[in-house]
Amino acid sequence: MDRILSLLQANGGQIETPCYLYSVSQVAANYQALTSALGTKLIYSMKANNNADLLMRASHYLDGGIEVASIGELNLVAGGDSEKFINNPSADKKFLRAAVASRSTIIVDNLIQLDALEEFIGKRPLKPILLRLNSSVLKRFNEHHPGVRADQFGMDWDTVEKAIARCKSLQIPLAGFHLFNGSYSFAKVATATAIAGIAILQEVERLYGSPLSFVNLGGGFSDHWQDQPFDFEAYRALLKEFPSHITLAHETGRGLMASAGYFATRVRYTKQIEKDFFAICDGGINQNFLLAQTENAFRRLKQPLLWRKSEMRVAAESGQDASSNQGADTEQDKAHQTAGPEATNVSDKGACTYVGSSCSKDDVIGKQNDDQPRPEAGDICVFADCGAYNASYTMTPFLKLPQAKTYIIE
Ligand SMILES: Cc1ncc(COP(=O)(O)O)c(C=O)c1O
Repeated sequence: MDRILSLLQANGGQIETPCYLYSVSQVAANYQALTSALGTKLIYSMKANNNADLLMRASHYLDGGIEVASIGELNLVAGGDSEKFINNPSADKKFLRAAVASRSTIIVDNLIQLDALEEFIGKRPLKPILLRLNSSVLKRFNEHHPGVRADQFGMDWDTVEKAIARCKSLQIPLAGFHLFNGSYSFAKVATATAIAGIAILQEVERLYGSPLSFVNLGGGFSDHWQDQPFDFEAYRALLKEFPSHITLAHETGRGLMASAGYFATRVRYTKQIEKDFFAICDGGINQNFLLAQTENAFRRLKQPLLWRKSEMRVAAESGQDASSNQGADTEQDKAHQTAGPEATNVSDKGACTYVGSSCSKDDVIGKQNDDQPRPEAGDICVFADCGAYNASYTMTPFLKLPQAKTYIIE
């Protein structure tokens, strides 16, 4: 956030809004921190953020490879040096052909996809594939596995057995398997999953009749995975129980990108309806669907940091949700210190709801408490932790409103 603060101090007037600001060095720092915590390869799942500029600049840090879920995503990274992993249960022949042509590793979801690979045997070099295992297999190999929410991805154990037999009969080279227990699942199930993974590996190698080379244990890291209690040292020790001929990997989207991105929108007008104060912004749900939290049963709207146009300074700290008052003063003081002494002279304070420009009642993107300075027209609100899915999981055509600009800040 310090970089964003100084960027606003220097260029607040020129920044086109609504926009995303992405920090390459934050991506690099997140990648470094997570790979050293895990001690394995780390694959970046590009569905979290597929901004081409950011990927190009960050790609040399992402040395564990990229997980790609569509031809569109593949086209963005096909020319790069990163190892590519194709993973989508709906991947059709066209996508599989493109995957083979781009020398990507295919993560096979089902037997039909496996059969579709037959046409490439002997014609094109096929990289050894991975089988995607449904999480339902975990309990079979570790009865203490806590289990995860059921989903439609990958194969159950009976299908895995058939797939291995088919790999042998069709002479499709098998590298290993891939697991994914769902977003945010890591701290809860990683240890039990690794224990199951060791047993699964033994059984798959036995059925295949040859050693495998690669196991992806999945991920499910949260935006700020460092803040969750998890014993990474014990986990790394457990991973040493995998045989040494196996390359281990994890994968992440939000764990890498969330904290590296910010969303900024300008206040166009402020208004009051009876006792409620609103800031109407030039961007909202149309550029940042997740910020409005319409998919959440309980919305915990984020509080933005404010760059004050009138005083050319930063007036409040972001990151906390507005429903929590805890630490609000200290956070605010911190931002004032960063912004310089003049920033302590705050004007009107009071609660405010930040709304977007889509005419939808649900286009509410932020909230602040009574103790925060009220925004004015021209101020820029900056929302932290908007680097993952905020841009990529947004549908923009409604009202033909403009898309958000992107700034790569370092
Ligand atoms: C197979 C797979 N891997 C990785 C991810 C990335 O998840 P996250 O961004 O929560 O790390 C997803 C997300 O849907 C996924 O389906």
